[in-house]
Amino acid sequence: MLMFAYLAATVGLVQGLKFMGDPAKAKMGNLVAAASVLVALVALVLGTSWQGSSNLLLLLLMMVIGTVIGNVWSNRVAMTAMPQLVSIFNGLGGACATVLGLNQVFGQGTMVDDKLGGSVLLLTNLFGAVAFTGSMIAYLKLDGRKLPRPAKVQKTLAQILLGIIVVVFGYYLLMPVEVTPFPLLLLVVTVAALFYGVYFALPVGGADMPVMISLLNALSGVATLMAGLVFRDPVMIIGGILVGATGIILTLQMCVAMNRSLSGVLAGKFSGSGTAKAEGEQELTSITAVETASLLAFSKQVAVVPGYGMAVAQAQRECFALQELLRQQGVDMHFIIHPVAGRMPGHMNVLLAEANIPYASVKEMSEVNNTMEHYDTVLVIGANDVVNPAAENDPDSPIYGMPIIRAYKAKQVIVLKRSTAKGYSGAVNTLFDRQNCKVLFGDAKSSLEEIINELKRI
Ligand code: TAP
Repeated sequence: MLMFAYLAATVGLVQGLKFMGDPAKAKMGNLVAAASVLVALVALVLGTSWQGSSNLLLLLLMMVIGTVIGNVWSNRVAMTAMPQLVSIFNGLGGACATVLGLNQVFGQGTMVDDKLGGSVLLLTNLFGAVAFTGSMIAYLKLDGRKLPRPAKVQKTLAQILLGIIVVVFGYYLLMPVEVTPFPLLLLVVTVAALFYGVYFALPVGGADMPVMISLLNALSGVATLMAGLVFRDPVMIIGGILVGATGIILTLQMCVAMNRSLSGVLAGKFSGSGTAKAEGEQELTSITAVETASLLAFSKQVAVVPGYGMAVAQAQRECFALQELLRQQGVDMHFIIHPVAGRMPGHMNVLLAEANIPYASVKEMSEVNNTMEHYDTVLVIGANDVVNPAAENDPDSPIYGMPIIRAYKAKQVIVLKRSTAKGYSGAVNTLFDRQNCKVLFGDAKSSLEEIINELKRI
């Protein structure tokens, strides 16, 4: 019966993930996956002997507290702070695996006398601790907090810590069990991994953050898998495999999207310093909402490139309204999504799906990049780095080499933004130097409302 419940939970998790691959079914996927975890938890509670122990009460209490905190927190968090929340969740997964590993030895006093079991436990704490502190640094970076600037010393410290971890593993594997003080080795690996996570995440910056985030996600999955092996818990093992495998696939996809090698990202390699022009030197040509509306009305093919600013402005519904209005006037409007637009994988897809934008009108960057000149007008809504031509032609730019949406090739480009501020990477955006680019200053939602009102009037 217990195994049947675990099997049902596993099938539910896989099915939930499958649903999440389709924007229309993503919400349902989340529910199915959450329900599957609940089934597994209930099965665990029912299948464990709790006689004479207060652990069941403690477990139920923790579940209630966790549910309340999770519920209140996720309901209160602003949509724009969602990536930070995801980072914290990732980190907590790693922290749980680490605490479980420590508890196994220091709390339960389990004697680890076989090398395989011991290695798995060491790996649990290694991956869990790196995922924890690395995700906390990612959280601080996404939240725009001031952190120490990338410096050579961070890289050296990371290498020393990695060296310590490798030596401990080597010692444990090569020496007889009697002379390997396992609790001490576990403690050393855990502490070194906690610090390594910090120095591993600190130097990764600018355009490489998406790769870092998906890699930390994969690490928390691998830590869960290892903890599942320690506790011989099938649901933890399968959940860990799913998170780890999908995280690794996503990491590799992000590397392709950013045109970066994984080793380059991990080594904290940066392309350039991005000092092509000092801030304030660029002259931006502005345009009004009324002029933008008439440009759109005279266009046949329009594309919208959404970015992080669309999430800040919560302008996705206005995008849908604009698409509908233009469709009625015989204008075809597409959305072009860059794989790292926004602050988390799939950020733009989620927002557009939320606004019921038909998926057929949503194009991948690779689908349309070679035919961008067919668009009469491209509206860049709160995007910056993902349309910056410096990535193609300025080796000094911090995003040099990253594939971009070639909005500059369209007949006319209008960028909706509030100020002359730069994008996430801090790179100067040379799109604004192009003859065909104008800026519509203001909050994206208000600007779109003005455009829509004007279009209705025309
Ligand atoms: P960004 O380059 O960050 O540009 C966002 C733009 O939105 C800015 O130009 C900002 O200018 C504008 N903006 C902000 N609020 C706005 C509002 N209310 N109304 C109108 N405009 C607004 O965004 P992007 O092009 O989406 O690029 C994503 C960047 O984030 C990449 O560098 C990527 O590597 C990085 N990153 C991505 C991820 C993932 S996984 N997607 C994770 C971490 C980092 P103003 O302030 O002047 O308005």
